[in-house]
Amino acid sequence: MRDKLLAAIENKTANVVVLGLGYVGLPVACLFAEAGFPVAGIRRSQEKVDLINRGICPIEGKEPGLAELVARVVAQGRFYATTDYAACRDAQVVLIAVETPVDPATKKPAYSALRGALADLGRDLSPGTMVIIESTIAPGTMAGVVQPILEETSGLKVNEDFFLVNCPERVMPGKLLANIRGCHRVVGGMSADAADLAVRFYRSIVDADLDAVDCLTAELVKTMENAYRDVQIAFANEMALLCEDVGADVWQVRPLVNKSPYRHMHLPGAGVGGHCIPKDPWLLVANASDGFEPRLTQAARAINDGMPLHVVDLTVEALRRAGVEIADATIAVLGYAYLENSDDTRNSPSQVFVARLQELGARVTVHDPYVRPYQGKLLESIRGSDAVAVMVAHDQYRDLDLGALRAHVAQPILVDGRHVFSSQQARAAGWAYYGVGSGPVGA
Ligand SMILES: NC(=O)c1ccc[n+]([C@@H]2O[C@H](COP(=O)([O-])OP(=O)(O)OC[C@H]3O[C@@H](n4cnc5c(N)ncnc54)[C@H](O)[C@@H]3O)[C@@H](O)[C@H]2O)c1
Repeated sequence: MRDKLLAAIENKTANVVVLGLGYVGLPVACLFAEAGFPVAGIRRSQEKVDLINRGICPIEGKEPGLAELVARVVAQGRFYATTDYAACRDAQVVLIAVETPVDPATKKPAYSALRGALADLGRDLSPGTMVIIESTIAPGTMAGVVQPILEETSGLKVNEDFFLVNCPERVMPGKLLANIRGCHRVVGGMSADAADLAVRFYRSIVDADLDAVDCLTAELVKTMENAYRDVQIAFANEMALLCEDVGADVWQVRPLVNKSPYRHMHLPGAGVGGHCIPKDPWLLVANASDGFEPRLTQAARAINDGMPLHVVDLTVEALRRAGVEIADATIAVLGYAYLENSDDTRNSPSQVFVARLQELGARVTVHDPYVRPYQGKLLESIRGSDAVAVMVAHDQYRDLDLGALRAHVAQPILVDGRHVFSSQQARAAGWAYYGVGSGPVGA
């Protein structure tokens, strides 16, 4: 079984199927196609399948090289998309890159997409196939969820009839192709053979280290690295709140902290979004025993979740000082994605920000150059507003002429959740500036 698959990997004749063609699955599928493998991608939306098969990339936002790559591999006949799982029957390698969120109330893994993909795959799984989970999963999921579903639905046994691997993805929107090619990966195998085969397979698209480990280690590495980032950002956010409280400017303090050796204080801001960072810390601790209390991870989540609401507080205070009640105010929100220059709105802090402002009775307009309903003209979106709140550091906002904008608003109040402008720059242009971490507030 091993030798046949190894030969197909080394000759690049192995049929590859990717389940889930989102931010992770689509670029990975296209890179394996470009490397020479015949690749099929399975996606549930017929509309998106049709788009991809016309060579059009459904991911918007700045994603260097991706649109060209999709067009190229589709035109060359190396990659196609389909809604039909029958493509799995001829596959020798299957990658699963479906979403793995947590339940909003319990924070426990909500694996309906993963379970569904595994059950559908199991029914068409052929002996000798290597199944690779690229999705981020809670430690223990390979042994407790993935293996049992695949074995039950296929009637095959792991390590005897098929190989099973967890190779978590490390990409960030905006750098999808560069990250896949350039970031180190852990490759967790259910057996040493499985890990070794997967390392050889990924070598065709990854230029960085590929470390063969067991599945539990791979699951821990992925969720721990994202929890680490969440905790680091939470520290930066708490320090920003402290600076506001004591009347200092975190944007002056932070670079000086980082001049100290081995200090890497992260950027504070209006909150943490995206599909991954807000839920991966919960996945990390999901299978810990009842006696284990993840205090720091939970505290970090609470701090970061609180940041968009803190920006609401800054906005309310700014308006109050200008004599405007929030319930009578119009707020222009700049940025609805969770990340600069991206169209990804999943768990975006702007969603929380806008919802809370509306609860308080404010009228809200939203602008975002990358998010479809909000792509109108920026000037129209801010016209007559009582405050402009910058929630995302899109390049387009960095280029704004604050002096010229002032003529279009009712009140020159700038609430800056991403330090797109410095307080000095905003004040010089005639704005009252309220930024996360810039105290004394509004001075
Ligand atoms: N987005 C990132 O930056 C990133 C980075 C690293 C890891 N990850 C992880 O990768 C996984 C995928 O994330 P994503 O951002 O690509 O999600 P996504 O929502 O963009 O893509 C998932 C796709 O899978 C499809 N899907 C769901 N169930 C399916 C099924 N049964 N069959 C076929 N398709 C199905 C969905 O319709 C969707 O198009 C998640 O576990 C995530 O945590 C994401």
